Amino acid sequence: MTSSLELHGVRAAYDAIAVLHGVDLRVGAGEVVALLGPNGAGKTTTLRVAAGVRAVTAGRLVLGGRDVTGADPRDLAAAGVCLIPEGRGVFPNLSVRDNLLMMTFTGKTHAEIEEVAFSRFPILAQRADQIAGTMSGGEQQMLALARGLATDPAVLLLDELSMGLAPLVVERLYEQVGEIARQGVAVLVVEQFAAAVLDIADHAAVLVRGRIEYQGPADGELRRELANLYLGSH
Ligand SMILES: Nc1ncnc2c1ncn2[C@@H]1O[C@H](COP(=O)(O)OP(=O)(O)OP(=O)(O)O)[C@@H](O)[C@H]1O
Ligand SMILES: [Mg+2]
Repeated sequence: MTSSLELHGVRAAYDAIAVLHGVDLRVGAGEVVALLGPNGAGKTTTLRVAAGVRAVTAGRLVLGGRDVTGADPRDLAAAGVCLIPEGRGVFPNLSVRDNLLMMTFTGKTHAEIEEVAFSRFPILAQRADQIAGTMSGGEQQMLALARGLATDPAVLLLDELSMGLAPLVVERLYEQVGEIARQGVAVLVVEQFAAAVLDIADHAAVLVRGRIEYQGPADGELRRELANLYLGSH
């Protein structure tokens, strides 16, 4: 399944408080787009809108060229939108194997799911019987990604994958994310600190207080601009 993701003029609010003020974003199939920005900018909200978990108050959500504004999150998930939330989408009290087994609701067999998971992340095979919550943070993120891959995502939404992880671990995770994109998946990656994801991103956008303040290549100019953009937000 391949699809692009587009947000057009998206506004979103919590109760009466507006947090997104007209966000435009496009992630093509096979692309990695980094969505950066300081605390409270609205990055997580943007991902929640893209997954249909948060309704828009204005604007449009377009998936594979089809307007899906207002669609139920379950329908978007069925269409291939996969959100891996902040703080690891794994069940900490279950083993690695059982975490993967739960994904058989997708219609895939346990064997198929394990084959994809273990070929991409061989360490998970070694840890199959380990309780997920006792694994390292990086291993838990690998498991979260493996669970996401079991849904055959067309659009993968990743929130702060790097949180609390060592730079080398983050680099390895993002290499895998890059590989996933190369198979045709549209990947939108949210990070507060940019370094690791910019190496694999095709484009970047910087969100400050609910507005996109920069959109363009993930190159040196952005790296230089980033401090100003973040500082300008205070
Ligand atoms: N459930 C909620 N109820 C009320 N306000 C919320 C809720 N979730 C987020 N907000 C507010 O919306 C704004 C944007 O939050 P969001 O979580 O999208 O930011 P973020 O860019 O992901 O920040 P961070 O880098 O800290 O994760 C913040 O001001 C936040 O306090
Ligand atoms: Mg967030």
